[in-house]
Amino acid sequence: MTERTSAKTLKNTGVLILAAGLGTRMKSALPKVLHPAAGRPLLGHVMRAADALGPAGICVVAGHKAALVREAVCSAAAKWGIKSAFEIIEQRELTGSGRAVIEAREFVAKHKKVLVLCGDAPLVRAGTLAKMAETFAQGAAAVVLTAEVPDACGYGRIVRGAGAEIERIVEEANAGLYRSMREINSGVYLFDSTALLSALAHLKPNPPKNEYYLTDAVEHIRAAGGKTLACLAEDYTEVLGINSRKQLAEAEKTLRRRKLDELMDSGVTITDPETVYIDDTVSIAADTMIYPGTHIYGATAIASGCAIGPNVLIRDCEIGGGCNVLLGSLISESVIAEGCNIGPYSHIRPQCAVEAGARIGNFSELKKSKIGAGSKVPHLSYIGDTDMGPGVNIGAGTITCNYDGAHKHKTVIGEKVFVGSNVNLVAPVNVGAGAKIGAGSTITDDVPAGALAIARARQITKERKH
Ligand code: UD1
Ligand code: MG
Repeated sequence: MTERTSAKTLKNTGVLILAAGLGTRMKSALPKVLHPAAGRPLLGHVMRAADALGPAGICVVAGHKAALVREAVCSAAAKWGIKSAFEIIEQRELTGSGRAVIEAREFVAKHKKVLVLCGDAPLVRAGTLAKMAETFAQGAAAVVLTAEVPDACGYGRIVRGAGAEIERIVEEANAGLYRSMREINSGVYLFDSTALLSALAHLKPNPPKNEYYLTDAVEHIRAAGGKTLACLAEDYTEVLGINSRKQLAEAEKTLRRRKLDELMDSGVTITDPETVYIDDTVSIAADTMIYPGTHIYGATAIASGCAIGPNVLIRDCEIGGGCNVLLGSLISESVIAEGCNIGPYSHIRPQCAVEAGARIGNFSELKKSKIGAGSKVPHLSYIGDTDMGPGVNIGAGTITCNYDGAHKHKTVIGEKVFVGSNVNLVAPVNVGAGAKIGAGSTITDDVPAGALAIARARQITKERKH
């Protein structure tokens, strides 16, 4: 089932995302679920997977550094594309996954069914959650997403009873004889809310850390006559939880590869996926080519028919159709309109707008500037705090001197101005439309429209004495 066709699979279902754990093994000041992978926090990936199925509501259980988690979710949910209603509650006693659900009882009681996800398992796909819903429809009171992993170390083991139902889940610390079993608990469950609420009343703290395990709820539901089924994940990598930086790097790799596959499926050419890094947050239209060593991050949107790379880094930009961004260029927080040529080796810093058909060439740097349509800054220039009209030609080595040591000043260049090579434009300064500036000039006064300005010492040529 694709993620699109499974929309509304979770119609009567509340999604509870457990995200209160300490994440000790990350050795980080940042809560584990806020660590980014492929351009969004782990929790963002989990929320998106749930949201794709149209649940009745999402509740995030925060605990460790709850205020940070709350702020991150509230400020970014729209950016992550979350459409469902969501709430964040705080777990007061950080004594295990069972305790987290006990403290979320009110949310559970509001819904007919409850899907429990872990905030530290970002690889689970909406399609797999939809399959759990299908298993649930076989009359289950609880469905556990399970997987056969190459190394079960650290996971709860699934103990199957007669008729393949789950008898119970045994945690690693208490696994004993069951330690060699390879079917593990992913930490993702779909519960009938009434059955879950009665089971929660039976949870007791477990040794060695006196924690309430949510996994024990499955055994109680079965004892009360509920059907407890397993849904085995086809791809075990989907259930991998992040507990360490090493696992974070592995998840990042998986998420990035998925993104590249998705882009290639939608018509983007990526000549060497091994060396290309594209955040999950990026959109690229069909028939754009991405060359090796290219990094595209953040809120970037690239239209069709572009050629990007090799070795280009773009962050938080909008790039219009048919642009070429060549070797070694870096562009951040800027808008490049259609048909521009950038690079090789251009640096476009934040808040630039490069209008249609403009050209920014080798070793040219732009900062907080507008470059008019068809204008050219082709070689060795620095253009900062500048408003440049269309059809301007900037000669090689031209610099806007925008900083007087204390303040930044503006340069305004009218349309069709011709600036010769190696000119210094000492801001604040205005150059009127159609003006021409001689090579090597240092311009400190405004130049009227259509005028010719030359500001350099006259050449003296003398005979040499030998
Ligand atoms: C848990 C499961 C284990 C499963 C594994 C899958 C239990 C008892 N064990 O183990 O069977 O194989 O996940 O990754 O659930 N959390 C809270 N509040 C707490 C403690 C934890 O919200 O007080 C959250 C964590 O943020 C995490 C989830 O619950 O998202 C699981 O907790 P974690 O400590 O990672 O449990 P595991 O040891 O991984
Ligand atoms: Mg875990």
